[in-house]
Amino acid sequence: FEVTWDAAQAEKGGHSSFMVKEILEQPAAINDTLLGRTDSTGALVLDEMRIDPARLAAVDKIVFVACGTAFYSGLTAKYAIERWTRLPCSVELAHEFRYCDPVVDEKTLVVSISQSGETMDTLMAVKHARELGALTISICNTHGATIPRESDAVLYTHAGPEIAVASTKAFTAQITACYVLGLYLAQLRGGTHAEQAQQVMRELHEVPAKVEDLLGRMDRVREIARFMADTRSVLFLGRHVGYPIALEGALKLKEIAYIHAEGFAAGELKHGPIALIEPGQPVFIVVPSPTTPYSLHDKVVSNIQEIRARGARTLVIAEEGDEAVVPFADEVISVPATSPLLAPLLTIVPLQVFAAELAAAKGLDVDQPRNLAKSVTVE
Ligand code: G6P
Repeated sequence: FEVTWDAAQAEKGGHSSFMVKEILEQPAAINDTLLGRTDSTGALVLDEMRIDPARLAAVDKIVFVACGTAFYSGLTAKYAIERWTRLPCSVELAHEFRYCDPVVDEKTLVVSISQSGETMDTLMAVKHARELGALTISICNTHGATIPRESDAVLYTHAGPEIAVASTKAFTAQITACYVLGLYLAQLRGGTHAEQAQQVMRELHEVPAKVEDLLGRMDRVREIARFMADTRSVLFLGRHVGYPIALEGALKLKEIAYIHAEGFAAGELKHGPIALIEPGQPVFIVVPSPTTPYSLHDKVVSNIQEIRARGARTLVIAEEGDEAVVPFADEVISVPATSPLLAPLLTIVPLQVFAAELAAAKGLDVDQPRNLAKSVTVE
């Protein structure tokens, strides 16, 4: 009997890196973040936050504060929360928040998002919000961390410990927790908001199995990543909820593969980024579901057509069965269908896998990229 793996590898569950392990843990991270937060009728129950529901129901706007990947989870959730609650919602980088003289008062809900719960800039933003009288809720993955202790209430993400510096399962768990909070606010507002909340919760419960399914067919994405090990620049385009996913996809690649990567809103293409397109330029495009309102799907398909005509190599992330993208795609990466606002929980997965595989193909330390820390506890 020969032991072929050591203790460190055992911790990684036999995977090549913690990041790969954590990417694969996302179905559980999402599921566990939903678990125990609904009653037998499907209504959301968030007594754990110990906030007077009347105080929450009186909120007239929401401000998210966060840094890095957590910031992108807030940007993603904004689309859904505004839609479900009709409350204005803004997302601020925590390190900018304090210095922009924010318009915040007793009726503002300030939601901080932090995996570690120790990011200094996010903590200072929460303290500032409290000084201004806001109600503060922390979405956090670490029990007893400083940010939840300094907040009025906490809604934990149940992603489990995240070891890799580049955040993956914490990101999808943060989006899930934001959805839970948004749907709870919608429920408190009653009427059609409440009915819609129950319907969305049912769809949300189906997402972990869809992520599992998607994770099972990432071979082609890994192959593409290995072919692209020498790439010097990758662009990411997205629209609607795909826009923050493009930003997060680019961040993953910068962080661990040290490749110049930029995420853009697809609608901005003609205002500058299209000038970057030259033959062979790889571009990931996160395509909205064909069921997204306002013909956004067709608009993004036109964008793909435009960049392809200029020689871009188009790597298209689209909903299963979306045939419209096929003529303009060098590669189609299909993700299971879900309602458009929940799609980010799926569309981010191939981009995480791509970054992890590419970094590994370059021989880099996937879990501990140069110059970065898991938690930034200085300003
Ligand atoms: C660091 C980490 C990122 C993380 C960010 C915010 O930059 O490298 O992965 O997204 O901090 O961290 P937090 O713990 O507040 O979510």
